[in-house]
Amino acid sequence: GATRYYTFNVTMRQVTRLCTTRAIPTVNGQFPGPKIVTRDGDRVVVKVVNNVEDNVTIHWHGVRQMRTGWSDGPAYVTQCPIQTGQSFVYNFTITGQRGTLFWHAHVSWMRATLYGPIVILPKRGVPYPFPVKPYKEVPIIFGEWFNADPEAIIAQALRTGAGPNVSDAFTINGLPGPLYNCSSKDTFKLKVLPGKWYLLRLINAALNDELFFSVANHTLTVVDVDAAYVKPFHTDVVLITPGQTTNVLLRAEPDAGCPAATHLMLARPYGTGQPGTFDNTTVAAVLEYAPPGHVKALPLFRPSLPALNDTAFAANYSARLRSLATPEYPAAVPRLVDRSFFFAVGLGTNPCPANRTCQGPNGSMFTASMNNVSFGMPTTALLQAHYGNLAGVYTDDFPVAPLQPFNYTGTPPNNTNVSNGTKVVVLKYNTSVEVVLQDTSILGAESHPLHLHGFDFFVVGQGFGNYDSSKDPAKFNLVDPVQRNTVGVPAGGWVAIRFFADNPGVWFMHCHLEVHTSWGLKMAWVVNDGPLPEQKLMPPPSDLPKC
Ligand code: C2O
Repeated sequence: GATRYYTFNVTMRQVTRLCTTRAIPTVNGQFPGPKIVTRDGDRVVVKVVNNVEDNVTIHWHGVRQMRTGWSDGPAYVTQCPIQTGQSFVYNFTITGQRGTLFWHAHVSWMRATLYGPIVILPKRGVPYPFPVKPYKEVPIIFGEWFNADPEAIIAQALRTGAGPNVSDAFTINGLPGPLYNCSSKDTFKLKVLPGKWYLLRLINAALNDELFFSVANHTLTVVDVDAAYVKPFHTDVVLITPGQTTNVLLRAEPDAGCPAATHLMLARPYGTGQPGTFDNTTVAAVLEYAPPGHVKALPLFRPSLPALNDTAFAANYSARLRSLATPEYPAAVPRLVDRSFFFAVGLGTNPCPANRTCQGPNGSMFTASMNNVSFGMPTTALLQAHYGNLAGVYTDDFPVAPLQPFNYTGTPPNNTNVSNGTKVVVLKYNTSVEVVLQDTSILGAESHPLHLHGFDFFVVGQGFGNYDSSKDPAKFNLVDPVQRNTVGVPAGGWVAIRFFADNPGVWFMHCHLEVHTSWGLKMAWVVNDGPLPEQKLMPPPSDLPKC
């Protein structure tokens, strides 16, 4: 393959949205950031230079990073952050992935504005596995705009124990669109030609909101999620969680009675949390048919979207996603499991520390945990500690199950204690792993988009209520389950995922709702080297930042 070189200069830039101007961190002054275009099998080399006051790291979300964990990017997991005035070269190879991924900052809430698309084309000469050739391919990247500084918002929330303020708008390719005040000029417009096919590369880079997306009067054909092909299916609405990507085909077909009409593309939340805990607004972009001669504003078509907390839609939509599972694109699902885990994931509260007043529920402070552990970030990178055998950075006693089983989706018990710790699970090279992720209703059922670094996993099962290990595994799909890197743990339900731990290193797993990560809904897997040279983590690059 080829090698693709990029330079990312992280600089502050004044950006105005909703009539509010704010200096935001950007890459090369662009918002959203530059698009990386590569092919399966290519090497990508990105020099990131930090010219802002805050620490920076960049994560290549969904890139498998085979043996190159040093380039994965989560701060204090695989690297110490790049300090002001310093730089670091990320260097990795795309292996067996085609579709759309994205890059984003991975330190505190910096990814609020620091993100951009990664387009992965098939190897040269290899066609797409779907019958139409898109006339154009267009990234559609969803984000959130905050009029206030997101770093100040999360700092204040952690100080007071309360929930952080929600964003002021959603954005499509950085633009809030005409449904917000003071924003119509900031509208993303996609000009299309009748009869042509378009490949929309949807990316949810929002901090804290799952989204429904739909285009008025146009059917979408889903062909790829998280850079893995799926069996194509038609839908009017796509559900996309933060951390997920979805490629859809759209055939431009103007309205018969009004060929120049404008069609809105809308996105708004799939909101499973308490009202007030998510941004309940709608972003619009425009699909524009522009035959010459039409200059006037013409009728506007609006798509309809499912109800805010339409969990049945979410479950049905997820169940339709299936791997291609063809000889060319086999689904390498682990059939036997070496180690199986049960993770209870959810929100909770901690008592307010003695010297503080907290504004969380009943004077407590919010926390979030997996198996009663709220993950605390170390001050040395876990990967460096693992590689250099440094003691005292993490412990290897992450619990394989909750302290005490309870009725996860019923009335929670009073003893759901949470402790803080930097705990990991250590896996032998190439262990086949199953994890059942069970939502808990300790603070109300809520969907959690769980993201695993360093791997794709197969979603072999999902269901509502409590997972039943005596009945549910019989229904697992081991033939064509969807392969992805981020899965929504259903509100009031569970998902089961499987993967081979064939990538040595330290790999973060966390809720991709950034506020839940901040509250501790995260953990890490340590995968040891295998015996062969090609089964070992590469040595650290010489410019790896120091803490
Ligand atoms: Cu896109 Cu650890 O995240």
